[in-house]
Amino acid sequence: MKIRECRQEDLDRVLEIENMSFDESYGMLMFQKLLDIGAGFLVCEFNDIVIGYILFWIKNEGEGHIISIAVDEKYRCLGAATLLLSRAILGFKIANQELVTLEVRESNTAPIEFYKSFVLL
Ligand SMILES: CC(C)(COP(=O)(O)OP(=O)(O)OC[C@H]1O[C@@H](n2cnc3c(N)ncnc32)[C@H](O)[C@@H]1OP(=O)(O)O)[C@@H](O)C(=O)NCCC(=O)NCCS
Repeated sequence: MKIRECRQEDLDRVLEIENMSFDESYGMLMFQKLLDIGAGFLVCEFNDIVIGYILFWIKNEGEGHIISIAVDEKYRCLGAATLLLSRAILGFKIANQELVTLEVRESNTAPIEFYKSFVLL
């Protein structure tokens, strides 16, 4: 597995992963905008296939925010999200952002367990 910056040609695949992962979608226009304005946007590649992504942002000075993270359901529980979040947190540390925030529905247990494994909650 490797983590790299999201590129223009990845957006269709990112949208596909988003659609299978969330009831509500940010959609292509928002992804395009976030890519254009230089938000943190990383993908995880496995055997040359994009299997997951993370979007993050510097919310305020000293505060990083996870906008969205998702992994293709066929490739879950293989550590892709762990790699993606670790890389984002490294970026936050380099930018001296000591606080990382995110939002998650209380009923959504998989991401809560995932975030807990990072001691973020
Ligand atoms: C949450 C999500 C991103 C995790 O991706 P993943 O690549 O499967 O996660 P990882 O393999 O890196 O798992 C890391 C840890 O998270 C926890 N975890 C992940 N999926 C879990 C599940 N279904 N149930 C319980 N714990 C889970 C485990 O502690 C796991 O560590 P372990 O494998 O050593 O037990 C993925 O389930 C997903 O895309 N869900 C739909 C989108 C979503 O809800 N995103 C978060 C919005 S806030």
